[in-house]
Amino acid sequence: MAARPAILAGLLVLCALVKLGAAVLPAPRDHPIGILPPLALVDEGRRALGERLFADPRLSGDGTRSCAGCHDLRSNGASARRRDLAPDGTELPLNTATVFNAALNFRLGWEGRARSLEAQTEALLRNPAIMGADPEVVLRRLSADPALAAEFRAIYRREPDAPALIDALSTFQRSLVTPRSRFDLWLGGVEEAITPAEREGYLLFRSIGCAACHQGVNIGGNLFQYHGIFHALAAPEPRMLRVPSLRNVAVTAPYFHDGSAATLEDAVRGMGLAQLNLVMEEAQVAAIVAFLRSLTGSYRGAPVTAPP
Ligand code: HEC
Ligand code: HEC
Repeated sequence: MAARPAILAGLLVLCALVKLGAAVLPAPRDHPIGILPPLALVDEGRRALGERLFADPRLSGDGTRSCAGCHDLRSNGASARRRDLAPDGTELPLNTATVFNAALNFRLGWEGRARSLEAQTEALLRNPAIMGADPEVVLRRLSADPALAAEFRAIYRREPDAPALIDALSTFQRSLVTPRSRFDLWLGGVEEAITPAEREGYLLFRSIGCAACHQGVNIGGNLFQYHGIFHALAAPEPRMLRVPSLRNVAVTAPYFHDGSAATLEDAVRGMGLAQLNLVMEEAQVAAIVAFLRSLTGSYRGAPVTAPP
């Protein structure tokens, strides 16, 4: 009779071990998608200065807009609008891309023109349709703020200048990564982190060829491709794009470079037809959307959300 509790205890230990085993199993080598690495170590002073500058309207030509005005970090790192507005009130040609995980893309911007965050940040600062800033004017304004100028001096050991401004903003942007999506946990071996339906969606995403373009650690962001290969998709220009990352894609509507797809379902259906010449069944669209919803990560410990 006394054997029973012992057997039970043994079984419990065994269960715990199996569970532990599941949690530390390495990801199979053949996944086309990599786990988002934890936050790279960045200089804390530069990061904090960059964070303040990111929300500072003095960085724009007319002093009315900040980076954060289009890239809302309390939600998805972008905006809910189809396309944001230039200072003259006209609609921009391109949808606002999220700044979350942008540091992991091999080129920046829809067309992938910038090779580094520094180059992208400088181009946006100068772009008359985005920040419309003359760096000289901005630096004069920032230098006139004694507390801010002192902070620049303490960190960079010189008066505020353009390279320091761009370095601080870029360092901050390198910290904008969103790890710990349920899919990453699953890749790391936590079997129950995604549902069977989401796993089916992932297998379909791989088998029909989505992963040929959306792959790597950012599930995109590492290739140039034409859009509308088999059938037209969105605005025809620009033809060649850097494949967008699909991280947090469930909360970054609207989709495509012109913001023309309102829902994730529309985007997935459009991709199947335009890029793979595939008329997808609704059940297939639903499965892939379910998988894409498992790609939402966390920023500062809270899940990334859609803008209100
Ligand atoms: C008026 C809205 C607006 C403002 C203000 C704005 N951006 Fe953007 N941002 C955009 C748009 C639109 C794009 C896509 C541009 C492109 O592809 O050429 C973009 C793209 C980016 C990207 C590229 C993301 C990627 O994955 O390729 C980064 C990084 C970025 N912005 C950072 C910034 C910073 C830093 C500032 C402030 C200096 C800023 N943005 C201000 C609208 C804005
Ligand atoms: C041949 C390369 C290629 C293939 C295959 C491909 N995509 Fe894309 N994907 C792209 C490109 C390029 C874009 C940008 C299109 C645009 O903005 O006009 C994109 C955009 C997207 C977007 C919108 C992202 C955003 O932030 O706006 C989603 C969602 C998407 N793809 C999902 C899929 C799915 C699901 C599949 C498989 C059914 C797939 N893609 C197959 C290259 C590809």
